[in-house]
Amino acid sequence: MRIGVLTSGGDAPGMNAAIRAVVRAGLSNGDQVFGIYDGYRGLIEGKIFEFTRKDVSEILNRGGTILGTARLPEFAYPQVRELAVKQLQKNDIDALICIGGDGTYTGALKLTEMGIKCIGVPGTIDNDIASSDFTIGFSTALNTACDAIDKLRDTSSSHQRCSIIEVMGRHCPDLALYSGLCCGAEYIITSKTGLDKEKLLADLKKNRLQGRKHAIVVISENLCDVYSLAKEVEEYSGYECRATILGYIQRGGTPTPEDRLLASRLGAYAVDLLHQNISGVACGIHENKLKYVSLKEALLMESDRDLSLEELVTKIQ
Ligand code: F6P
Repeated sequence: MRIGVLTSGGDAPGMNAAIRAVVRAGLSNGDQVFGIYDGYRGLIEGKIFEFTRKDVSEILNRGGTILGTARLPEFAYPQVRELAVKQLQKNDIDALICIGGDGTYTGALKLTEMGIKCIGVPGTIDNDIASSDFTIGFSTALNTACDAIDKLRDTSSSHQRCSIIEVMGRHCPDLALYSGLCCGAEYIITSKTGLDKEKLLADLKKNRLQGRKHAIVVISENLCDVYSLAKEVEEYSGYECRATILGYIQRGGTPTPEDRLLASRLGAYAVDLLHQNISGVACGIHENKLKYVSLKEALLMESDRDLSLEELVTKIQ
């Protein structure tokens, strides 16, 4: 088989490990594997190059993606996707492995509908692909966030301040929820809990009056302007308050062993699925077992993760 592999959307630590696994598993099977640079944009521009084992040496431990990535909203247009199909035909590519998040899956589904064999591999720090318990990159981003929040606790405690820390995750609560839990944040505000500003201010004021010296508030992105919120906390609660947006540092760095392992398993599994003549699917992990569902289903699935973590927050916060 001639297999193409690309990364698309926001980069995530562990994507390189997935690329390596696709290339090595493909070559072990006697396939030819082609790296496609810069996501779907590179695909339509024909940035397609055959990879050897050596091309993926020493990348297992590297953050980012050696293939580069891009967001290409124009891929929604059929005439743009036609260019992609033409490039695949020109290069005799039989199947495509697309590593990324829901935008990547949407592109893969559209290509599937145009007759291209595609497999989606979940790579995003957001953990927002419900067809997999975890996505490649989430573990590393969580580590990065926890490291930063621990440091912010040190300085908040020394200065008796409230610290508001904004983490990424797009519309998914997981990065905020997990990092808030792991760092013992006093308040965890996510797209799921919503921001009840009056309650937060009142609670902080009460805590301050009760003599609690500092407070950590972890909040998901896109919920409010955290700098304005910090000002309001200062004005109302009696705490000095600082806001920190962790931002893009959450996307970089050396992948954790968990991400390397997940990426290696999923990359090799994607190749196996193609050899079983299975395509048009998204692979993932569920209860530590590899599994796949159709790309359509993967995009429609709502997260059914158990709510025990949310309950845990209310018990031990
Ligand atoms: O999907 C990953 C992510 O980092 C989100 O957490 C964030 O909302 C978004 O990408 C930022 O996207 P961009 O790199 O296009 O600014």
